[in-house]
Amino acid sequence: MTSQPAAGQVEGDYILVLNGPNLNLLGTREPGVYGSMTLAEILSDLEVVALSADPPLRIEHVQTNHEGNLVDAIQTLGPNSAGIIINPGALTHYSIALRDALAAVGTATIELHLSNIHAREEFRHHSVIAPVVLGQIAGLGSDGYRLALHHLIARRSSHGGKR
Ligand code: DQA
Repeated sequence: MTSQPAAGQVEGDYILVLNGPNLNLLGTREPGVYGSMTLAEILSDLEVVALSADPPLRIEHVQTNHEGNLVDAIQTLGPNSAGIIINPGALTHYSIALRDALAAVGTATIELHLSNIHAREEFRHHSVIAPVVLGQIAGLGSDGYRLALHHLIARRSSHGGKR
């Protein structure tokens, strides 16, 4: 693995947005819990915000239902990003591999949940990810992604994407 930017990729010019299992179903998946916006709609909102940053940022997005693919994305795209927004889905509650990958890259990361995991079933109250990230946003629906992005943009100027 290399931490050098790939060809055509400038270090720090993108935010890495990661969505885990079942988040491809947003829009139709339990809309009373997760809202009615699709992942494509959420991403196009994020792209508008990212492009209006000064200097502009790109959004690199990976949605996967597979834990190892998220680990790969963190290892390859995480180190050169200006920050990571991750909704790990159910992996939040048990994936030590994901936690270790985030801890290893040391990039400023915001853990994002559409629903308020602390107000739901007890098994959702615990996040194994939370101790290795900058902070967590939960319960604000799709607004949470935008708020996380605004924070990472503001932080980029002072911290350069590192924790
Ligand atoms: C979720 C909450 C998780 O508990 C759940 O497994 C998800 C989505 C959220 O965005 O609220 O898949 O991360």
